[in-house]
Amino acid sequence: MREIRGKPLSLLIDEGSIRKRVRELAREIEKDFSHSEGEPVVVGLLKGAFIFVADLVREMDIAVVVDFLWVSSYGQSTESSGVIKVLKDLDTDVEGRWVLLVDDILDTGLTLKEIHTFLLRKKPAVLRTCVFLEKEGRKKVDFNPDYIGFKVPNKFLVGYGLDWGEMGRNLKGIYAVES
Ligand code: IMP
Ligand code: MG
Repeated sequence: MREIRGKPLSLLIDEGSIRKRVRELAREIEKDFSHSEGEPVVVGLLKGAFIFVADLVREMDIAVVVDFLWVSSYGQSTESSGVIKVLKDLDTDVEGRWVLLVDDILDTGLTLKEIHTFLLRKKPAVLRTCVFLEKEGRKKVDFNPDYIGFKVPNKFLVGYGLDWGEMGRNLKGIYAVES
């Protein structure tokens, strides 16, 4: 069994299931974004979304621009406060463009809601949100992503970009850290 710092990992979503679901999401997004005037801008949140973004855009058969936003959230380390500090802003001017905001996981939703508000100030024509995972029963704010890969139980997860203290990002599946 795999482990990180002595904690065993149990497989929750395997590579094949991820690939299949990412393909389905890409089809859906592609269809919705086909109305975009000019190329849509896919905005990935660093660092967690880097693998999901890489897979998602390669499954899409439309021309897209890829950009990344890096924010840190203030507050305790275990739970986000919803107050964000921008570490790397977009390189692309998204005013009047169709934008897809992509993140790895929605937990309380505080961070994503704040980032959504931040991006709206840049006046995109359309702003949709896609998360690879959504933890069930954890949401603290009224924020509903337009596209969700998988709903997952309230466990700490690693792999496919998600980390535990920077470890586990490069695992090909999604694993729960067992105690
Ligand atoms: P939220 O503001 O509570 O929704 O926080 C979401 C962020 O917390 C995600 O973008 C992740 O970076 C991180 N996060 C939440 N749950 C997990 C997890 O189970 N594993 C790894 N990172 C997580
Ligand atoms: Mg994150």
